[in-house]
Amino acid sequence: MKGKTVVITGGTSGIGEIAVEQLAQMGARIVLIARDKSRGEATLAQLRERAPSLAHTVHYADLARIPEMKRVAAQIAGSEPRIDVLINNAGAMFGSRQLTGDGLEYTFALNHMAYFVVTEGLRERLQASAPARVINTSSGAHRGARLDFEDLQLVKDFSAMKAYSRSKLCNILFTREFARRLHGTGVTANCLHPGFVATRFGDQSGGLISRFIGLAKLFAISPEKGAETLVYLASSPDVAETTGAYFYKCRPVTPSQAALDDRAAMLLWERSAALAGF
Ligand SMILES: NC(=O)c1ccc[n+]([C@@H]2O[C@H](COP(=O)([O-])OP(=O)(O)OC[C@H]3O[C@@H](n4cnc5c(N)ncnc54)[C@H](OP(=O)(O)O)[C@@H]3O)[C@@H](O)[C@H]2O)c1
Repeated sequence: MKGKTVVITGGTSGIGEIAVEQLAQMGARIVLIARDKSRGEATLAQLRERAPSLAHTVHYADLARIPEMKRVAAQIAGSEPRIDVLINNAGAMFGSRQLTGDGLEYTFALNHMAYFVVTEGLRERLQASAPARVINTSSGAHRGARLDFEDLQLVKDFSAMKAYSRSKLCNILFTREFARRLHGTGVTANCLHPGFVATRFGDQSGGLISRFIGLAKLFAISPEKGAETLVYLASSPDVAETTGAYFYKCRPVTPSQAALDDRAAMLLWERSAALAGF
């Protein structure tokens, strides 16, 4: 990873934080997209300690807001001459239906739209830097989910798990459609399930969900173990040519039938572009 630049969302905690530490130790320069100044500065300080010769940096944005997603992507595209790896990893589960300032359901906005908008904002830079990689953190929770294009914002039928599992299905559909559109450009896109990992995930969900996830975490794997597939996809020469795949435990696996629906992938892309105003 020497000489490579890695841009990451959700690099200030959990799986993402471990992944950036390891990638920095392999020689990568890290560009964090963080929402919270003190958490961003703390991760940056850690990176500077681990790999002091590299000019790691941080940009701030609330990735639940479309104007913020666009602004931070434009800022990075304007300041980074090359991007070798983009990792879309920031995500969360919300216990109740909340709307962002853009009128989108929060889970959909943060877990899917931020991946879409940040990647679109950096696409030209990624293409100019080819070979380059996009990695999207999805989840095994996508299994069982189906998208309802008549109700993408879950107005009719909200549950925290439904919103989360649909957003993680979106991650796979987005990965496959991006890979199809960028085929032959030297920019690959893959996604992954990290396993069930003991991170801060669920802490902010609220109510019973936080308590349930808190208990379940007693049986979860460590963030070090959970980051393995992310680091593998970002750095291994084995996957330099692989694109459009879903990985678990550093191996490609078949996602659900709904995640293999190319028509849904195309439609999701069109809807997302319209919502983002592209
Ligand atoms: N943990 C699991 O078992 C598991 C399983 C499958 C998939 N995943 C996926 O793995 C990814 C990483 O989750 P994690 O488990 O490492 O959880 P985590 O420890 O809670 O980390 C979440 C990251 O997302 C950032 N983030 C949250 N909301 C944001 C916002 N509005 N704007 C910008 N950044 C925001 C957080 O920033 P702060 O540091 O400021 O909070 C943090 O860096 C997520 O996409 C999640 O869906 C997790």
